[in-house]
Amino acid sequence: PLVKDLFGLTELEERIRSHFGLKQVVIVPGDSDTSPHTKKELGRAGAAVLLKHVSQDEVIAVTGGSTTAEVAYHLSSSNSLKGSWFVPARGGLGESLEFQANTIASTMAKKTGAKYRLLHVPDHLGEEAYQSLMQDSTILEIIQFIRKARIVVHGIGEAMVMARRRKVDAGTTSNLQQDGALAEAFGYYFDRGGKILHKMPTVGLRIEDIQEMDCVIGVAGGKSKGEAIASVLRFGQEDILVTDEAAAIEIVHLL
Ligand code: G3H
Repeated sequence: PLVKDLFGLTELEERIRSHFGLKQVVIVPGDSDTSPHTKKELGRAGAAVLLKHVSQDEVIAVTGGSTTAEVAYHLSSSNSLKGSWFVPARGGLGESLEFQANTIASTMAKKTGAKYRLLHVPDHLGEEAYQSLMQDSTILEIIQFIRKARIVVHGIGEAMVMARRRKVDAGTTSNLQQDGALAEAFGYYFDRGGKILHKMPTVGLRIEDIQEMDCVIGVAGGKSKGEAIASVLRFGQEDILVTDEAAAIEIVHLL
């Protein structure tokens, strides 16, 4: 039997897949919270899933984070990607440079031999700055380009961990907490039931763009993220989940 079956991972994959109506679930053994090796395997599995689903000449949107950075690390030169473009899913969310979507998109392009386009918008935009950016023709042009993506690779985080890491202001953070925010993905915060509570004020993909995509790939693992991953799955737009054993066990406990 496959090593996976010995761990019962194939069965776990099928339980999560059928419960949430996903196209595919891939589970790697271990817990990314405590094992750097598992986190690497998560990245490797994410890279394999991405390469399997891309077709010629397409726009691939990616989010930031340490997990998508692992996916980028494991990509390699691919003929099927030569005519494709990697783009950031959304602009400045307050991440450090190495975890920014722009950085991940350019790394993915360099690794695979694809092209990339970047979105340069400042972090922590106020409403007024946001509105005026939306009038800028170069920004509008790249946003239109990003919205052509039919495939997105994204991380999932715990709401409070992400709010802290991205230095979300105290007022917004306490509102999120009071409203029961559990998860964050592509700059949106979700409650337990998968309802959107808050949208980070930046540009790029909107929720309606994500709803229309053919292939939404979530890559996230670690026991601590189980609840957050379940929240995003309840939101109902995911097609493929790449996760690890520890997160998968948490998710199954919540079903
Ligand atoms: O949206 C969620 C975050 O990008 C997840 O970041 O992969 O570093 O936990 P992480």
